[in-house]
Amino acid sequence: MSTEMSRRSFLKAGTAAAVGLSVAPATMLGKAKKKPLVMDRKLRILGVGIGGRGAADLKAMEEEVEIIGLCDVDWKYAEHVFERYPAAKRYNDYRVMFDELLDKVDAVVIATADHTHAIIAAQAMAAGKHVYCEKPLTLTVYEARLLTKLAAKHQVATQMGNQGSSGAGTRQAIEWLWNGEIGEVRRVDCFTDRPIWPQGLEKPELVEPIPSTLNWDAFIGPAPMRDYNSIYTPWNFRGWWDFGTGAMGDMACHIMHVPFKGLKLGYPIKVQASSTPVLTDCCPSAEMIKLTFPARENMPKLALPEVEVRWYDGGFKPERPEGLPEGVNLNIDGGCSIFYGTKDIMVVGCYGNRPYLLSGRKPEVPHVLREVTTSHQLDWVRACKEDPSIRVPSASDFSEAGPFVEMVDLGVAAVRLQALNQILEWDGEKMEFTNIPADATIKIMKKDGFSIKDGHPTFKKTYTDPVNAREFAAGLIKKQYREGYVLPDMPE
Ligand SMILES: NC(=O)c1ccc[n+]([C@@H]2O[C@H](COP(=O)([O-])OP(=O)(O)OC[C@H]3O[C@@H](n4cnc5c(N)ncnc54)[C@H](O)[C@@H]3O)[C@@H](O)[C@H]2O)c1
Repeated sequence: MSTEMSRRSFLKAGTAAAVGLSVAPATMLGKAKKKPLVMDRKLRILGVGIGGRGAADLKAMEEEVEIIGLCDVDWKYAEHVFERYPAAKRYNDYRVMFDELLDKVDAVVIATADHTHAIIAAQAMAAGKHVYCEKPLTLTVYEARLLTKLAAKHQVATQMGNQGSSGAGTRQAIEWLWNGEIGEVRRVDCFTDRPIWPQGLEKPELVEPIPSTLNWDAFIGPAPMRDYNSIYTPWNFRGWWDFGTGAMGDMACHIMHVPFKGLKLGYPIKVQASSTPVLTDCCPSAEMIKLTFPARENMPKLALPEVEVRWYDGGFKPERPEGLPEGVNLNIDGGCSIFYGTKDIMVVGCYGNRPYLLSGRKPEVPHVLREVTTSHQLDWVRACKEDPSIRVPSASDFSEAGPFVEMVDLGVAAVRLQALNQILEWDGEKMEFTNIPADATIKIMKKDGFSIKDGHPTFKKTYTDPVNAREFAAGLIKKQYREGYVLPDMPE
């Protein structure tokens, strides 16, 4: 591949197919130099999406990395970060930065709006780069599967930004579970106090002028183009289907991690959801989702029977477990998960924080999980520097985070399919709902249209034209990308 061709590849072809590595084996060059098993220099990185959480991620690793390039679509919002790292080259389109710098770095840190995580991470990994990507890893089940497989194929070090997975609370809660301290679990209830950002809105009609400091086209990325309105970015993208996954996608990646890992959940077989009104563009204000998992292979001290996992957000909480003292708030740092075991009930806070058993016991159990003694971000830097032959994966390596996010994305998809009025059956391997009737249709509310005139209420809901439900569902599992954005093929 000529240098010129590789420089233009991301913008022109928009495909990682064009970034296959063309590295001549060292022996062919005559001077075979043995690579150390642990990198003996600083990790060279690019940062994409740096104005918000990305700033904190970079700060957490700044002493152990060399930041070569930084990209943000909003140069005003991101100014403080560009200024903090003056040596880094600045961009407002990641594709241009990748064309110019990807082959000069080891790794990419991604903290953009959620809808661009998958394409950026996939293209980076296809070029052999390690990836740290904020949660939720992806918007769709397909994207999550793809990132899992690309990470394995390219043997790169990966980490999702659910930092609680590296924490002491997560480790303790999972070790209690695995040691059989609460017995078999057939029910888990989870909730978050989010959204704290706007949701349940109709699509804004006002078209605002695009600020000169914002690359709106690059923000839209693989999503369908839409007019600019300041409601979408920064921060509020979370509440819009094209850019985010609502409160569940945002917070379940923290709160449901202990259930997913601790109970080895894997693929659900059934899902159902209900919520406040589902609109075409914006996520609903409050949701309830139930996922059913089949029995899994038992562990030495823990049987894993079929289990129902419920999710609540938008102000709703699960019922209080019997025995929970009055006055105790179940909300620990943004939510919690409640494990109903045959021997005890365990409550675990958001990020795995402060787990406790309702019996009041504090079991001493053998440590079977690795203790992360640095930050979540630095543990990933460590993994990046280790040769794949000796690498200890980070706490939220994509081999685990990918399947976990598939579950989260599936729950979010079920919210958008609730008008079908059925319990959806799911084939995880095939990434398909198996019981949506071939002729079922679905229509989505565009406007609520409720008004009161002269004291009389008027109900005037308007809907999209009905579309085939199977096709609509398939589009929630694998999204169409806008021209110029092409995912690498799914590895075998
Ligand atoms: N792990 C955590 O505790 C935690 C906390 C907050 C946010 N997050 C995650 O971090 C990500 C960012 O969230 P945030 O709250 O920082 O949002 P934000 O809007 O405050 O910051 C996102 C930044 O990315 C930029 N951006 C958006 N799309 C981009 C693109 N295509 N290319 C380059 N830059 C782009 C924005 O301009 C902004 O500077 C989200 O995925 C979110 O879920 C994680």
